[in-house]
Amino acid sequence: MVDIGARDFVLGVVGAGAMGSGIAQVALTGGLAVRLTDADAAQLEKARTALFRRLDRLAEKGEAKPDQVAAAKARLTLVAEVGDLAPCGVVIEAIVERLDVKRTLFRALEAVLTEDAIIASNTSSIPIAAIAQACRVRGRIAGMHFFNPVPLMRLVEIIAAADTDAPVVEALAALGRRMGRTPVTAKDAPGFLVNLGGRAYYQEALHLLQESVASPEDIDLVMRDCCHFRMGPFELMDLTGMDVNYPVGEIVHKGYWYDPRLKSTPLHESLYLAGRYGRKTGQGFYRYDAEGRKIAAPAPRPATAAPARVILPQPVEGLVALAVAAGVETHAPDDGASPILVAPWGEDCTAIALRLGLDARRTVAIDLAHDTSKRVTLMTAPGADPAAAEAAAALIAAAGRAVTRIKDSPGFIAQRITAMIANLGAEMAQMGLASPGDIDQAMQLGLNYPQGPLALADRLGIVRTYEIMCRLYETIGSDRYRPSLWLRRRALLNLPAATPA
Ligand code: NAI
Repeated sequence: MVDIGARDFVLGVVGAGAMGSGIAQVALTGGLAVRLTDADAAQLEKARTALFRRLDRLAEKGEAKPDQVAAAKARLTLVAEVGDLAPCGVVIEAIVERLDVKRTLFRALEAVLTEDAIIASNTSSIPIAAIAQACRVRGRIAGMHFFNPVPLMRLVEIIAAADTDAPVVEALAALGRRMGRTPVTAKDAPGFLVNLGGRAYYQEALHLLQESVASPEDIDLVMRDCCHFRMGPFELMDLTGMDVNYPVGEIVHKGYWYDPRLKSTPLHESLYLAGRYGRKTGQGFYRYDAEGRKIAAPAPRPATAAPARVILPQPVEGLVALAVAAGVETHAPDDGASPILVAPWGEDCTAIALRLGLDARRTVAIDLAHDTSKRVTLMTAPGADPAAAEAAAALIAAAGRAVTRIKDSPGFIAQRITAMIANLGAEMAQMGLASPGDIDQAMQLGLNYPQGPLALADRLGIVRTYEIMCRLYETIGSDRYRPSLWLRRRALLNLPAATPA
């Protein structure tokens, strides 16, 4: 087996585009000798110039010493042909995303490399097994999936196909660490880990929009302020671009045999078909000005005066705290006139008002599931007295929080999206795509999630997460919301979400 730590170890990289040049860069800064090639000689030269400029910038910023940068540059060799990769112990392919072209390249590599050399593909969407099928020796073929931009994204997914030998996976993980990345090991399944797990965030937001629960702005604000995501789902889709996230979503949905958990919505497709890709085209879910700045929607008008009193049919601590902060009196018995505040889990306002026998016209549901120190979400049932929602909004404003008002929805915005993220992460663990720890790490590093999906289930409370999923499933009636068996069993037993099977 190839020795990554050997003095004469050389890494080969085929394809000097966005990914290949980033892969070469982190290999060089990790101390490795690299041979880089590309079918397009001009592109190869361009890649070297850009790569050297990035290395120089590291020295300018004090992130590397000038002699380290000089040594890194000296370890790069540009080569014209695949035949020149013969001394490489590992070759990473980062060429065009086409199965036929990759297969031809893999066959050519097989012909020149030594028997123990490893060949890895950086493909995002092609099954590794489909590439390996072109090769004579398949045990040494694996996926090594980096994220864009490579120097900034620490994660690398090591993909083991059906025929990949275990020591090959270990060697590639060691190589990833040598390149300063954090490797996670995953099965050869559609979207691997990150491109599968990321679906829940985008797509549940799209379903909330489809149900007219809230606008993209409101959903993004809630996910940032209450759940601490660095970017809201719509901002993120506009940043990656519909030309990327729509086709990836289609591949993953089809790959899992059209599991409704992974389906998108017509609006997503129509933006894609219309070429409204997001920032890069100036229009997506948002519009952008000539400098690429988001054109902001007008801020909602401030709420009116807070009510003198609210009714709390259940003594929920978070609701009492909000009322106290706003200087509003709370009462348990209904006075027949004041707004009634409730804090449901997974239920919509309609359902909780009926279940508790409340006057639905005056009932206002408030989401206490996540951080409410900056922003609080409220919703009312159809036919509600607008004055009740106005009064509750005024109370929240008087308590010093921003208010997001949405249409009735089981699980509001935040409970619903986070429970769906947790549920998909649990299902990934159930399918054994990776260890629970690797699933969490992949989502945190690959998607900048504040926490991995299983850690998120624990923070929300495993029982609560399951309860939200059960209610979503029952209320909406779609298989999209069926709770994962992994989640169900751990919730019933009250065990941490990462508890192994
Ligand atoms: P790119 O278009 O920037 O670069 C591809 C390079 O490969 C080009 O320079 C091209 O001249 C070269 N090339 C094409 N066919 C070749 C061949 N037969 N032999 C040698 N060189 C050849 O593409 P990018 O974005 O770097 O993607 C490369 C691979 O990485 C694809 O498989 C893609 O799915 C995957 N990937 C891309 C990510 C991204 O965000 N761009 C993220 C993760 C994976």
